[in-house]
Amino acid sequence: MTVRGLLILVLTAAAVAQKEPRPPVGARPAQPLPFSHLVHAGTGLKCTECHMTAATASAAGMPAVDFCMRCHVAIKKDSAAIVTLAQHRKDKKAVEWIPLYRLPAFVYFSHRRHHVKGQIACEACHGEVARQSVLSKEKSIAMSACQACHDKRKANNNCDACHDPHPG
Ligand code: HEC
Ligand code: HEC
Ligand code: HEC
Ligand code: HEC
Ligand code: HEC
Repeated sequence: MTVRGLLILVLTAAAVAQKEPRPPVGARPAQPLPFSHLVHAGTGLKCTECHMTAATASAAGMPAVDFCMRCHVAIKKDSAAIVTLAQHRKDKKAVEWIPLYRLPAFVYFSHRRHHVKGQIACEACHGEVARQSVLSKEKSIAMSACQACHDKRKANNNCDACHDPHPG
């Protein structure tokens, strides 16, 4: 068997074993709290002020409840959603946001590499987030979508670029 044949076999087995819940493009799940990117873009907050590790690590990261409460100790503090948010902080419980973009563990991806080194805007992979009041999955992160841009940008399209374990 060729090395590529073996890789396909191993990855297919991993894909089947994992049964990753992958929302399709267009999915717009109801979130536990009515958070709006449109409203929060209006406050002047940048994407990376909430998704704090997008420029420094593989994962973009999600904002902690403490961060939200810097404003919401005062803003709309009596609304039902903010009362719930404040309760989460009291209980030291993170909000269980429903994910839209998740890769299976056998794919390597780094936000830092793309956003900083590749100079690629968030919108290229996530769509017009700042214009949405309920976030929907506007873009595909399937293998073909990765490969199409890598072709165009002359980035590495070898199997092991995205499927090597990349320790650390
Ligand atoms: C005030 C903090 C805040 C700001 C600013 C913010 N976000 Fe978010 N983002 C969130 C929260 C909270 C969620 C989860 C709820 C939701 O999906 O609406 C989220 C979800 C996301 C997701 C989906 C995450 C997943 O699990 O799949 C993406 C992608 C995203 N944001 C991108 C952006 C981009 C791009 C910007 C800048 C245009 C931005 N965000 C600005 C707080 C923020
Ligand atoms: C820079 C300040 C700021 C931060 C930080 C912030 N918000 Fe907000 N938030 C606002 C403003 C301003 C509004 C709009 C208030 C209005 O409608 O008068 C708002 C509105 C909301 C609402 C709607 C409340 C309602 O009942 O109308 C929710 C829910 C919310 N924010 C959740 C969050 C969450 C979750 C985070 C953290 C991920 C967060 N906010 C971080 C300023 C902020
Ligand atoms: C080249 C495409 C690409 C770019 C550019 C990009 N993302 Fe992502 N994003 C992804 C992929 C792919 C995932 C799923 C990653 C995973 O599951 O390992 C993701 C996941 C996320 C998540 C949820 C999980 C996490 O990583 O914490 C958030 C939030 C997010 N992106 C925000 C952003 C923000 C903010 C920017 C801009 C600073 C950005 N992304 C730029 C492709 C991209
Ligand atoms: C919008 C264009 C675009 C998309 C979409 C994209 N990439 Fe990339 N990717 C790039 C560019 C450009 C680079 C080279 C960045 C640099 O200069 O180091 C890169 C580099 C990489 C690297 C480093 C490769 C190496 O060894 O040199 C990996 C791994 C990677 N991308 C994985 C992915 C995965 C997985 C996806 C899909 C989930 C994806 N990329 C989607 C543009 C993209
Ligand atoms: C630029 C990144 C990238 C490159 C290059 C790449 N893949 Fe993938 N691959 C992915 C992503 C992302 C997924 C996950 C797709 C999903 O879950 O929808 C994936 C999934 C797979 C799967 C699991 C089955 C499936 O389709 O979901 C196999 C098998 C696979 N890749 C084989 C390969 C082989 C063989 C090569 C070389 C010819 C290759 N990949 C090159 C990103 C890449």
